[in-house]
Amino acid sequence: MEHNPKSYRKRTLGGRDLAPETLMMSYGYDPLMSEGAIKPPIFQSSTFVFRTAEDGKQFFRQMAGGMADPGLIYSRFNNPDLQIAEDRLALWDDAEASLVFSSGMAAISTALLTFLSPGDGMIYSAPIYGGTESFIRVTLPRFGVHFEAFDAGIDSAGMRGAARKLTRQIGKNGKIRVILLETPANPTNGLVDIRAAADLAEKIAETQGEKPLLLIDNTFLGPLWQKPLRLGADIALYSLTKYVGGHSDLIAGAASGRAELIRRMRPMRNNLGGMGAAETSWLILRSLETLKLRMEASAANARKVAEYLKAHPKIARVHYLGFATGRVEKKLVASQCQSAGSTFAFDVVGGEAEAFRFLDALQIIKLAVSLGGTETLICHPASTTHSGLGVERCNRIGVTEALVRISVGVENPADLIADLGQALAGI
Ligand SMILES: Cc1ncc(COP(=O)(O)O)c(C=O)c1O
Repeated sequence: MEHNPKSYRKRTLGGRDLAPETLMMSYGYDPLMSEGAIKPPIFQSSTFVFRTAEDGKQFFRQMAGGMADPGLIYSRFNNPDLQIAEDRLALWDDAEASLVFSSGMAAISTALLTFLSPGDGMIYSAPIYGGTESFIRVTLPRFGVHFEAFDAGIDSAGMRGAARKLTRQIGKNGKIRVILLETPANPTNGLVDIRAAADLAEKIAETQGEKPLLLIDNTFLGPLWQKPLRLGADIALYSLTKYVGGHSDLIAGAASGRAELIRRMRPMRNNLGGMGAAETSWLILRSLETLKLRMEASAANARKVAEYLKAHPKIARVHYLGFATGRVEKKLVASQCQSAGSTFAFDVVGGEAEAFRFLDALQIIKLAVSLGGTETLICHPASTTHSGLGVERCNRIGVTEALVRISVGVENPADLIADLGQALAGI
């Protein structure tokens, strides 16, 4: 057999498109380039040898021109494991291109620093991941960026109001360059209408002459259960640490979108140095092979757990997307999300004392922040992940002392329910 670059980028068979779960086993890697190894080796090498000085010159020229795939240079710019992970992630996202980063925060901060300049403005939905919020509120103003937040919710009036307020704030010379949404929002599963945000971006373009980019943090449902690029978004952002990594054993992030936008982000990633390392990228390749199986299994488990909790007398409310009420909310869930996913919050009857007694009594389910792993994790957002927001803001967005967030894993669901049951009996 001969090395044939076309065969390992094959996406169709007999005129039919191959599904991402099939392509995860092969796409972008030719075993014949690596002694026939069925899995890509970990290319644990900081730098790559040029065959000739002319090659080195060409590769640097291609990189400076933003080419997606210049010859291999140096692992801060490119590395085989990183590139295969990026090619495969793009398939799940229906994207022209993806970039893998050292963390979700590296992806988010690099995107914002690429698309925002002094005098520009951005609007974003709240609640949003704490690290993102702090980057927007603490770091970006030091670079002259203005912002307005609006509360997640099915009514898009807040989003439009934030845009009007921001337009007044930045004046004639500034432009709204970014709309950033985290939907569903952590931990309340509040939704933002992605299509309405895309429409708003078009409206803003009519007045300011340039369309703001619509960025979606797709960590909670993506890339399987929510496809923001199909709904009019420009870039999907990820903490791959969560569902994509899926085993609670790595930290990574990603951005997926049109090649032209990813090309703009690449030099910023090269300069900030937030690329995914070879070993982490290799772990992501391992994880992408089982992504669909894991997300399907945990979503099926989550439904059972949510139904159990909903019927339990010591649970006041379950914020599970599958229990959406009201015509508009149901319609939005149906049009935007292919599944209710497997991370949701619920209120115990009582407050912090009852929530803590319940959490401390769990025996199988682990008390830890993060989500999207094979194991079920549970946490108390008001005192941990969201404590930085302060009590007043937490209460306003529904992060009360009685609220507990669970990320349901792939264990036997009856075992999880037994653990929840015995812990609830003691509060
Ligand atoms: C929704 C969301 N976005 C971004 C991040 C940041 O990701 P990372 O911890 O990989 O930097 C997190 C982390 O919890 C998150 O939950």
